Amino acid sequence: MEKRKTVVLGVTGSIAAYKAAEITSRLMKLNVDVRVIQTEGGAQFITPLTLETLSRAPVYGDQFSRETPYDVEHIALAKLADVFLVAPATANFIAKAANGVADDLLTTTYLATLAPVLIAPAMNVNMLTHPATEQNIRVLKERGVLFVEPEEGLLACGDVGRGRLAPVESIVSAVIALLEPKQDLAGKRILVTAGPTKESIDPVRFLSNHSSGKMGFSLAKAAAKRGAKVTLITGPVSLTTPAGVERVSITSSAELCEAVESRFSGCDALIMAAAPADFTVRNSAEHKIKKNGNDGLTLELVPTQDILKKVGQQKKHQLVMGFAAETQNMEENALAKLEKKNLDFIAANDVAAKDRGFAVDTNEITLYSRSGKKEQSGLKAKDEIADWLLDRLSAAWAEQQK
Ligand code: PMT
Repeated sequence: MEKRKTVVLGVTGSIAAYKAAEITSRLMKLNVDVRVIQTEGGAQFITPLTLETLSRAPVYGDQFSRETPYDVEHIALAKLADVFLVAPATANFIAKAANGVADDLLTTTYLATLAPVLIAPAMNVNMLTHPATEQNIRVLKERGVLFVEPEEGLLACGDVGRGRLAPVESIVSAVIALLEPKQDLAGKRILVTAGPTKESIDPVRFLSNHSSGKMGFSLAKAAAKRGAKVTLITGPVSLTTPAGVERVSITSSAELCEAVESRFSGCDALIMAAAPADFTVRNSAEHKIKKNGNDGLTLELVPTQDILKKVGQQKKHQLVMGFAAETQNMEENALAKLEKKNLDFIAANDVAAKDRGFAVDTNEITLYSRSGKKEQSGLKAKDEIADWLLDRLSAAWAEQQK
């Protein structure tokens, strides 16, 4: 019989701590064991008795308590965890985790665990958007910690903005996705592109854009986790190749075109999250162009190959998903690209809006399908957006099987 899975749930001092009761109850009903660690602040907002009753287990709080059966409690709990969830997570917990501060049972267990870590923040909007908190979240994300993003709305303090704990069902689904990774893409070969291209002006200068590669890397990582054989063609970015993914590095739009075209016939789906240059420099200089007094410099730009349009014309069994990076008239422009490039899906993102598009960790997609369907993802971490998009691809394959 398969071993029951255990979630170690950290509850910190936020007014949303009462929702930890519902999270515990929902997980227990799904046959997942829950072991709760409460910080001192957490215990001010919800009684250990409530969480003990719902989890049918002792609630851990004091690191040096002698009442529990474990000798080295934080290590035992760290090893017990199949997922380490902190919900709600305060700015204080996030700051400690980002800086390796281990001054209570929750933070010591966090440092000791090898389980996937999921954090659901809840706090005042100004605390969330403070540069210190933003940087701490960024650091944790770069280390592979996963987040269930807080929502916008009326906060307990009376302010309106982002900071409300994500809905319990989103938190529970994110836990379940970690406990039971779907293998719905097993057997599929997926080509993902990511990042910018660099178009050379001379040996020291280039034209490029703000793409960080995060969206494409999230897609490659999620597809590989779900069992697909993934090739990630990426422009110059400073991101680690996700486990199990084959990486192909390119620099220019022409190289990206060649890399995609040569692999297209062997793939089942192409997801084009890269931001290739639409123009390149005609006759880039062999040597560094010298500044000539106050004279300006005129560059002659010529269009690059529209890669999606080219492979869209060669499409046979493949599903092709493009992205549309728009700053205005999103629907009209995205639908025109869907048509012109012969795509199955186009994922439109508003790259002028805060927290969306280039170089941030979150995104919001409006997905248009060839069938005429229009769906809205909501603002989510790029890792979650990746799974949301792959769900649609997976559903399209399931539909083809019927
Ligand atoms: O990398 P991040 O920092 O995470 O940012 C993510 C992102 C904003 C780059 C990503 O979400 C995104 O929108 N990627 C597409 C960027 C883009 O080039 O958009 P576009 O609307 O200009 O192009 C439409 C589609 O055609 C895209 O799928 C693009 O990859 C493709 N294209 C573009 C130019 C070209 N010469 N050939 C192409 O195939």
